[in-house]
Amino acid sequence: MGMGTDRVVVVAGGAGVAGECVVEALLARGTTVAVPSRSPARLAALRAAHPGPGLSTYPGDMGSADGVRRVRDAIVAEHGEVDAVVAALGGWGEGPGFADLDDSVWHELLDTNLSSHLRLAHAFLPALADRPGSVYVTLNGIAADKPVPGSGPICVTGAAQRMMLRVLAEELAGRAVRLHEVAILTPIITRHWDDRPAKPDWLHGTQVGTYIADVLAPDFSNPDHLLLTLP
Ligand SMILES: NC(=O)c1ccc[n+]([C@@H]2O[C@H](COP(=O)([O-])OP(=O)(O)OC[C@H]3O[C@@H](n4cnc5c(N)ncnc54)[C@H](OP(=O)(O)O)[C@@H]3O)[C@@H](O)[C@H]2O)c1
Repeated sequence: MGMGTDRVVVVAGGAGVAGECVVEALLARGTTVAVPSRSPARLAALRAAHPGPGLSTYPGDMGSADGVRRVRDAIVAEHGEVDAVVAALGGWGEGPGFADLDDSVWHELLDTNLSSHLRLAHAFLPALADRPGSVYVTLNGIAADKPVPGSGPICVTGAAQRMMLRVLAEELAGRAVRLHEVAILTPIITRHWDDRPAKPDWLHGTQVGTYIADVLAPDFSNPDHLLLTLP
């Protein structure tokens, strides 16, 4: 399945672990991929790992509405209108249980793992909504559905992120854009994996990237399924 060279895909969080899997798979299919990050060093490392003209990187802070809009405007100025967005934002976290959770840590995790999704949707969905063939994909993890002691904020933001997409799907019903969540239910083994023991059934980055590139392709076999899971 192809996502041709004439398509532009933004991978927000593309310099992170899960996002890079998507970046790699899309580049292999000849797609133009735009990746923002707060970290110029992470962007440089990403370009070094994936040399070639398909990847464009954008230093910018997606931590504010203005920051996301600036990144969007820079991408559109360079490549024209965007065809698809992948939200690979946030990440794992372990710490004290809810009873001992510091208020500032709670608010920081809400912002990183949940408000970031709202800002991204706000910046990109209005233009995507009526663009033929457009796709908007959010990544999620096992904690959205499974209470994990010490990772309460990740569980709550994952569940809320899923409900945000379900509401968006209702609000945008009948419009052109196709929405999906891909919940990745195991850790992902990538070049960033350290020497912790991995279980044989854990997903590898190429499996995750290939699947999400398939989801983005015009001939994806499950276009009406909002919530998708891997494996
Ligand atoms: N890694 C795994 O093994 C795994 C397994 C299953 C599911 N997942 C899912 O994959 C998704 C991403 O997780 P990850 O492990 O790839 O995390 P990650 O490596 O920490 O990367 C997360 C990315 O999100 C961006 N980000 C964080 N806070 C942000 C903010 N406030 N505003 C804008 N961007 C922000 C970061 O951008 P910067 O580059 O600017 O820091 C970073 O590139 C999550 O939904 C997670 O549940 C991951």
